[in-house]
Amino acid sequence: MQVNRSSLSLDQAPPISVPFRFFLTAPVFGLLAALLLLIYGPEALSTRWAPATLALTHLITLGFLGLIMCGAMMQMLPVLAGSPVPSVEWVTAVVHLLLSIGVLALAAGFLLGANALLHLALAALGGGFLVFIAAVAIALKRIQAPNATINGMRLAVLALFITVMLGLTVGAGFSGMISLGLLIPLTDVHLGWGLLGWVGLLVISVAYQVVPMFQLTPEYPARLTRLLAWALFGALMIWAPLYLAWGSGGLPRLAPDVWMLAPAAAYGLFAGVTLWLQQNRRRRVSDITLLFWRTGMVAIAVCLLIWLWGLIPAEAYRPAWPLLLGVWLLFGMAVSVVNGMLYKIVPFLAWFHLQSRQVALMSMGKVKVPNMKELIPDRLAQRQLYAHLATLILLTLAVFWPGFLARIAGLSLGVSCILLLLNMLQATRRYRQVNQELSEFAASR
Ligand code: HEM
Repeated sequence: MQVNRSSLSLDQAPPISVPFRFFLTAPVFGLLAALLLLIYGPEALSTRWAPATLALTHLITLGFLGLIMCGAMMQMLPVLAGSPVPSVEWVTAVVHLLLSIGVLALAAGFLLGANALLHLALAALGGGFLVFIAAVAIALKRIQAPNATINGMRLAVLALFITVMLGLTVGAGFSGMISLGLLIPLTDVHLGWGLLGWVGLLVISVAYQVVPMFQLTPEYPARLTRLLAWALFGALMIWAPLYLAWGSGGLPRLAPDVWMLAPAAAYGLFAGVTLWLQQNRRRRVSDITLLFWRTGMVAIAVCLLIWLWGLIPAEAYRPAWPLLLGVWLLFGMAVSVVNGMLYKIVPFLAWFHLQSRQVALMSMGKVKVPNMKELIPDRLAQRQLYAHLATLILLTLAVFWPGFLARIAGLSLGVSCILLLLNMLQATRRYRQVNQELSEFAASR
């Protein structure tokens, strides 16, 4: 184990079922997204407004990314900051159930055009996220001396709150519950806060801890960690009204677009610094999480290029542009990083819980606790990395040739999600086996 445990307060960690419930459900939503792509084929990649595209987007943003990020936060707050989420088992049960129902209902509501399902989704997602945000906000507020990671997490949760409020608003407008002008600009502001706020800020703030700790790199520069998340949050706060002012005809499009250069440059800086740190890591062994993270950081650079391409006026209206940007933001940046993190968090937690129990039972030498690599062997994780990279390439090509490639990309996404699920189940099964052996040892004494 090369993890520096001195900065972790592991004794406060919640039961392993808290994060694992989220981590094991997420690939199932990924698999549903793959099925959708297989069934709807080119229709899901023809325009961003197609019902299948909206359903696919939320199966990934809420079902895959959202569940993993919520589960990871509930795990990380006590461990990284010594501040447990209150009533964590109750909160977990409610949040997991409501979010799962909400994502299924939202996707089905989009696909079937069924307003009743959309209303159910709004109630379940609104309820689930409010419970999550309230519980996590209490834990975040209790932290006396917040570091850059905690400050970034606070802003990420605030961004999630804004995203959810905007999501509920556009959802109510979309399903005819309220009449809403500016539906399209509001949707763009919603997705801006979701991807550049909630997802991006959480990735950045978690990176400050886990990149140096797990990838053995030098620390991020102090000035960057102090300022970046605030700068990004502030830039989004100004961008959103500028964008809505453009949407209502009060400003030329150039104004929000030029302003967007600020957050775009900030993300570029973060990606550049992370790649530089990884290049200068202390032990130059490659590992799977590192490769996933690198893919995510290169994807940020690709997103910047695609976004700049969209600034050329004639190009911005091609249907391919937003789809391509969506593919690289979601699958290139967010899924790569979040998926890669699972390969550290899951084996680490399983190992840590078993090892703690082994020490408590003084069963060293009697029951062998597997190390992280034995819980998920590298070769299995590597296989899934290849499937993920193939999916990213196929989705990129499918944006231009959907008729030929959309279903093949769906198949590849399905393979990647099944492999991820099997890898998670493999760690869970090993954990259960050894935990059982420890219980038998305890009973035999
Ligand atoms: C309560 C939770 C949420 C609800 C109810 C919701 C609802 C919606 C609705 C109704 C739309 C379509 C609006 C329209 O067609 O005009 C939309 C679009 C979108 N949402 Fe959400 N959303 C939620 C959370 C999120 C989150 C957390 C993210 C990202 C992390 C996200 C990312 C997106 C994206 C990227 C689009 C645009 C999809 C496209 O262009 O195809 N949403 N959302």
